[in-house]
Amino acid sequence: VADVRYSEEVRDVDWVRLKEVLAADRFDNGRTPDELRRSFEASRFVVFAWDGDRIIGTARLLTDGVCNAYLVDVWTLSPYRRRWIGRAMVERLLARVPGHHVVLFTEREAHFYEELGFREERVGMSKVVGTWLNRPPEGGSAGG
Ligand SMILES: CC(C)(COP(=O)(O)OP(=O)(O)OC[C@H]1O[C@@H](n2cnc3c(N)ncnc32)[C@H](O)[C@@H]1OP(=O)(O)O)[C@@H](O)C(=O)NCCC(=O)NCCS
Repeated sequence: VADVRYSEEVRDVDWVRLKEVLAADRFDNGRTPDELRRSFEASRFVVFAWDGDRIIGTARLLTDGVCNAYLVDVWTLSPYRRRWIGRAMVERLLARVPGHHVVLFTEREAHFYEELGFREERVGMSKVVGTWLNRPPEGGSAGG
């Protein structure tokens, strides 16, 4: 796709539409459109890949701007994968945080991150405070 455009601008995003696209591409972790917007707006650096008026990739980075950063929501729309779009988005974010220790969680796609220089560490721990997105633990909406 020669004309994929990258943007760091959150104002252009239609969050309802993005939520629908993410859900259809099975990359929906339950946020409402408003929660999606808030999570991107509160991130220090974001990048969107656009094909025309369609978002076909996202990535965002949380950071203190000094030493630590956390890479989240790295996603390329399925038909657009394996065209270096994911790499381009992550490289844009990493360029913003020289000297930082950048961490991420991934259940799959380990090779994609290894190619970008990440190495698996077995010392991580994590916890959800209460329930994910403060939703009721049982019987809540699956978020789709
Ligand atoms: C992980 C993900 C973001 C990668 O996006 P992408 O746009 O396909 O990324 P790239 O094209 O830069 O690289 C993906 C692979 O395609 C390969 N590739 C890229 N362009 C290529 C080309 N022209 N020809 C052949 N291979 C190519 C890369 O080498 C890479 O291979 P690897 O995974 O074996 O390392 C995407 O697969 C995705 O959205 N997955 C679902 C969401 C997810 O799991 N995200 C990560 C967890 S948070």
